[in-house]
Amino acid sequence: MRYPVEPFRVKVVEPIDLPTKEERERLLVEARYNLFKIPSEKVFIDFLTDSGTGALSQSQWAAMMEADESYAGPRSWFHLKRSIEEFTGYEDPIPVHQGRAAEKLLASLYLHEGAGVVSNTLFDTTRGNFTAVGAKIYDAPTPEAQDLSSDHPFKGNVDLNRLEDLLKRGGIKLVVMVMTNNTGGGQPVDLDNLKEAYGITRKYGVPLIIDACRISENSYLVKKRNPKYSNWSVKDIVLESFKHSDGAFMSGKKDGLSNMGGFLVLRDPQKRLRAKELLILWEGFIHYGGLSGRDMESLAVGLMESLDERYLEYRTGQVAYLTERIRETGWDVMWPPGGHAVYVEVRNALSHIPREQFPAHSLVVELYRRGGIRTVEVGSLMFKDAARYEFVRFAIPRRMYLQSHLDYTVEVLEDIYRDRDKLRGYRITYEPPFLRHFLAELEPIA
Ligand code: F0G
Repeated sequence: MRYPVEPFRVKVVEPIDLPTKEERERLLVEARYNLFKIPSEKVFIDFLTDSGTGALSQSQWAAMMEADESYAGPRSWFHLKRSIEEFTGYEDPIPVHQGRAAEKLLASLYLHEGAGVVSNTLFDTTRGNFTAVGAKIYDAPTPEAQDLSSDHPFKGNVDLNRLEDLLKRGGIKLVVMVMTNNTGGGQPVDLDNLKEAYGITRKYGVPLIIDACRISENSYLVKKRNPKYSNWSVKDIVLESFKHSDGAFMSGKKDGLSNMGGFLVLRDPQKRLRAKELLILWEGFIHYGGLSGRDMESLAVGLMESLDERYLEYRTGQVAYLTERIRETGWDVMWPPGGHAVYVEVRNALSHIPREQFPAHSLVVELYRRGGIRTVEVGSLMFKDAARYEFVRFAIPRRMYLQSHLDYTVEVLEDIYRDRDKLRGYRITYEPPFLRHFLAELEPIA
């Protein structure tokens, strides 16, 4: 079968509606062509993010009914703590309200003005939190990642030679492995690449931290693509990954299958203590870290559900289906399919729009104009000169959309491909000082 059979059936429905053509055009103008400013009720199919947007299971809702909202020592914290310990193999985890809160803690614990960070490619909020304390970021993806169409199975890997060169030079205070590599096209990191990277960082005494928000999807792709691990359970691959790190943080809004939540784990007890002191200052007490008891219950159950291999087969199968079908329409895509999203690279198809005029953003706007579809630009608008690609990302929320939603999306893309020469570039009319894509205002270039 080309489309995976969903390993669930629908119990609650949420209506969606396609606004009229005129309304969509008006909304685009009002939003200053920034899709973050369009009300979600006016979006037909929302691929803006897979973060916090998925459907909860009946087990998660049941656990939420039993949540304990006490400030200190709530039952729900102990449930979450056990779940994180089972998931990661780390003890004494620290709860946070979402991934970027852990990033802020890490920046305070490990970084300062001029400190270097190496990564297979940092996510934008991580980059933002680290550069906010003056750190210098070195992205070190492998050369294979630049070749969109090759079949290389692990384009999320870190370039081991470059990693070692940078560590040799000195000044590097932290290495972060993002699994899967979201900014680098949602591609998985091979467990063997992580192991080698960890060996190198240990030689130089620099801590390696895993950004684990999609580690279940990453581990499923390791199982499928590295024959060495084909007989391992995903749960064991996840645990093995965490063994090769000095710490990890996770936004529970992705593979935690929750609407909110996250955690930080650290090997070093001194750093853990310092993190807890800061947590109380910024997030809340060490038994909830900015989360309600309901959030903690949802995450405790979601982490375990994300290890279900039937679910992961469906999840990655859905991403593969959309990736293959979009490729057939003529658009270039990041290949092979990743774990959570399809990345359309527009440089060839929209070669008449220079990068200073944000060609990928032009497709983002057109997808909404024609089909009420919301996506996000991951290119020069998001990353300025650090952009390696001009991507439009279609992030698929977990357990939410069905095959017809994806087929509709393919048809809209087919339609735009035929008219692609008519798409125009954009210029920025308001630019915030950092993470500019969230609040930027734009206008089409005549
Ligand atoms: N790291 C990665 C790799 C991420 O993809 C994200 C969030 C974060 C850290 C931050 O986590 O949102 O809980 O604070 N990514 C979302 C996205 C927002 O759309 O890709 P957060």
